[in-house]
Formats: sequence, structure tokens, C-alpha cells
Amino acid sequence: MISVQLTQKKFWENDVECYIFLMTENLESASDLATLDKVENDFYPHVKEILKKHKFNGKHGQNFVLTAMHDSSEGSKKLIQFMFIGLGKLNNSWHRELELLRRAFAGAIERMKGLVIQNAVVALPDVKMFNVHAAELVKQLTIVAFMADYEFIKFKSDKKDKEWVGTLLIETDPKDHSMFIQALQQGTIIGQAVNQARNWADLPANILTPSELAKEAKQIADEFNLQCMVFGEQKAKELGMGGFLCVDAGSDQPGKFVVLEYNTSVENAPTIALVGKGVCFDTGGVSLKPSDSMHGMKFDMTGAAAVIATMKVFAQLKPNVNVVGVMPLVENMPSGKAARQDDIVTFMNGKTAEIRSTDAEGRLILADALHYAEKNYNPEVMIDIATLTGACAYSLGHFYSAIMTRDQALCDTLSAVGKLTGDKVWQLPLEDDYKDAIRSDVADISNTGSKAYLAGTVTATCFLENFVEKTRWAHLDVAGTADGVPGVNYMGKGASGVGVRLFVEFVMNYKKS
Ligand code: BES
Ligand code: ZN
Ligand code: ZN
Repeated sequence: MISVQLTQKKFWENDVECYIFLMTENLESASDLATLDKVENDFYPHVKEILKKHKFNGKHGQNFVLTAMHDSSEGSKKLIQFMFIGLGKLNNSWHRELELLRRAFAGAIERMKGLVIQNAVVALPDVKMFNVHAAELVKQLTIVAFMADYEFIKFKSDKKDKEWVGTLLIETDPKDHSMFIQALQQGTIIGQAVNQARNWADLPANILTPSELAKEAKQIADEFNLQCMVFGEQKAKELGMGGFLCVDAGSDQPGKFVVLEYNTSVENAPTIALVGKGVCFDTGGVSLKPSDSMHGMKFDMTGAAAVIATMKVFAQLKPNVNVVGVMPLVENMPSGKAARQDDIVTFMNGKTAEIRSTDAEGRLILADALHYAEKNYNPEVMIDIATLTGACAYSLGHFYSAIMTRDQALCDTLSAVGKLTGDKVWQLPLEDDYKDAIRSDVADISNTGSKAYLAGTVTATCFLENFVEKTRWAHLDVAGTADGVPGVNYMGKGASGVGVRLFVEFVMNYKKS
């Protein structure tokens, strides 16, 4: 476990096991040179030559540790470590640099953990290189420290060996202490929430059932003073949620419709609605997935996990807007009670859809959830997040979630937030020409886009659009970004926690339109 703290002491006055240096490529910046001189003169003769010999030159991803026995002024001896981290060239766009800094920093945390270092100190790099305020850097780096530390090891018998408690001190200017403290607190809350979302997503469906996840939401509400409502089949029937019910029908695990509310004390504040797909496992239903494609379908509740974790952040950071989180939680199973192909369902808003594939279940539950959120909360903005289409993973891969909206300003805001937080989105089109893809001969719409139109990610959005009447709305498809992100050290192997960082930053900075 990592703990990030601030230190107001001068860098070298911190009594720690390890000093961490973020070095630019070729080690030629003024601060690199000053660092190396200091280490060479006071602790480690010939350090420059040693680094050279080991080909450490500050390239991005490089990471080198030296250990020295140091005689302190009081005469005692102490082992100290020097960790050199390569930042690379710093000639990219500011947001790319920020991302590379996050990864360099995450590399330091990994190394600390690997070497079981209990405490270390690091100085902030020169903020000029990143186009963000120093406090924002503290926040971003704190978040990433938590993300880098996350591992899903609950079911590993040898996890005791992996338990580590390390403290990382970030040197900050004492002048602005209160501002940095706030950034640290925010970063800690956000980083822990990202990991909470990842943990739910990583938990398999035999453990994290819809009931269990609903229970977690309720617990958070009780602990942090959010409003929480959970209902199941019976109330869903009364409300006419045919989409939610038909996906829920096939499973022995009862589906749960969860609503979390954060209410600000600010009067007349607008409401933002976040809607998350919560399919705890997606077998495809009677349109059964081939077994290779079913692997990983425990992650199909990533959207709901992101929204619940985000709501917990708002309960703590208290934004000046109201936020409602709506999560339809189900398990998509084949059985004698399951929905069939050709079935026609009627949604809460009265529209009907023909089920062409029971594997296009996400849009069925989201249809009722979007309508429910709009009708009951009259939000100013609504964003839904869903592992909705395999096509999305093919088109954008693991590094960008797809965003589709008719509201370009909303898209631009979310894109900018994505660049800052690293939780990136890329726009795909949403235009009337695609709408014909979901025409049905027997109902208002079909739940599957016609093959002739391709663009399954866009046609799925056209389906959802039928359930949003008048609200500014954006749909995020996170099928590619939810898990298994390769090559990004702080993402690890399983769930990525996608959406949490994006939503938090968006809502905390939301300006009433
Ligand atoms: N949960 C899947 C989408 C998915 C696929 C997420 C791969 C992550 C990785 C979704 O419910 C689904 O099965 N979508 C179908 C829709 C199709 C039947 C129209 C798909 O993408 O194949
Ligand atoms: Zn599916
Ligand atoms: Zn699904």
C-alpha cells in the first residue's frame, strides 16, 4: 500500500531511505546537473561516470538505482538509495508530456515496491514543461501513485508476501502549502476511487453479483451521506422497464436498479446525470458468445463501477452541482426464462424494440436507465458509460474511449478533460445517416445495427439516442479501455478504472450553461 505525503523540508533534509530523481534525456538540464553534482560531491563519488557506464541517460522508461553507505553528521552509518528515473526528451505536446510523466512516476512507485523501500522523497519536475499548475501536478501524480500500486491479489494465497507499505514524500513549496495539501487530498480520494472501481471490475461474476454491487453502493451511500435507492424486478415492472427486465429475465441472480444521488447545498444548482452499464457477466444470452469472446465479460459492469466510485468522490469533494448516478445491474444469461431473438420489448418511455441479438443487451438496459434519469432528474447534462460494442475496441484500441454526441461543446470539454487526466476520449460521428441501420419491420427500432451499415459503435449510439429526449447527452463506449490496457505501467493487467478520472474532473469544473 502506498501513502503519498507532502514535505515542506528541503529535498535533502528529508530523512528517507531513498531519493528519487526525475531526469530529462541526456541529463543536461540545470536541475539534472545540480542533482548529479550534489550526489557526486556528498554521497557517491563518480556517480556521473557510473550512470554513463550503465547507459542511464534519462531516456523515457529508464530507471536506475544505486545504494550507498552514508556517514551522517552524528557519526552513524546509514544505507541510502538513489533512484534515477528517465523522463525522456520533453519535446511532445503538453498532455503527452504529462502522460509520460505519469508513467515515469509510476515506474518509480513500482521500483519502490519491488525494492521494498519504505520511504522516499521526490521533487516536482519543472512545471513549465507541462503547462499545468504545480498543484495539478501534485494531484495527477498522487492519483497515479495509487494506480501504480493497485494489484488484484485478493485471491492469491501468497499475497502476504506482496503486502508493502511505503510512503512517498513530494517536495513542495511551503509558500503554497494549503493549496498543495488540497491537491494531495483530492489526488488521494480520486486515486483510491479509481482503484475501487478497478477492484469491482476485476472481481468475477460469481462473487460480484448485481446484489453484491448494489450492496456496495448502498454501503457507500450510508457511509458518505448519499441518497441511495435500489429496486428490482417488481418496481421495474411497475415502471414498465421492458429493456431492463428482458435482460434480467435469464439469470437466477436478481437484477438491481441502483440510483445514487449527491445533492449540493448550493441552491438552484443544476444536476448532472451519470449512467453506467452494469452487466456483471455477459454470456450473450441465447445469442451465446463463442467461448473465446466470453472471456473477460466480467468487465461488462465497468461503466457502473466507474459511476459508483465517482459518486463516492463527490460525496467527499462536494462539487457545487447535484449529481445522480444511475446503474442498471444485471447478468446476461441464457435460460428457459431468457429473452429470445425476435422478442419485442416495450421500454419505460413507451418505445418498442425488436431483439435481433440478445448479446446487444447493454443498450436494452441503458435505454430504460437513460429515460429514467432524464424523466426523474431533468439533468442539464447526461453522460453514459458502457462497455457497449466490440467494434469500439477494434476501431480505437485500448488508449481512447469513444465519445459520441450531437453536442460539440460537450464533446470538446470532455476531450480537454481527457487530455488533462489521461482518461482520453476520441470522437466518433453521430449523424442521421446511421439511423437507418437500426430500422425494424416489426417494432420502432431493432437492437442490432444492420450489417450493411457496419459502424456498430455508432449504430448502438443511434439506438440509445431514442431514449434521450431533450438533454445535452454524450455516450462513452469503453469496450476497449476498460481492461487489459497494454504498455501503460500504471494500468496493470486487469481493469483500468476508466471513466472515474474523466467524470470527476468534468463535474468538479462544471460551469452552468
Ligand atoms: N459487452 C459486449 C461488448 C464488448 C465486447 C465489450 C468485447 C468488451 C469487449 C456487448 O454486450 C456486446 O456483446 N455487443 C455486441 C453487439 C452486437 C451483437 C450488435 C458486439 O459488440 O458484438
Ligand atoms: Zn453482449
Ligand atoms: Zn455486454
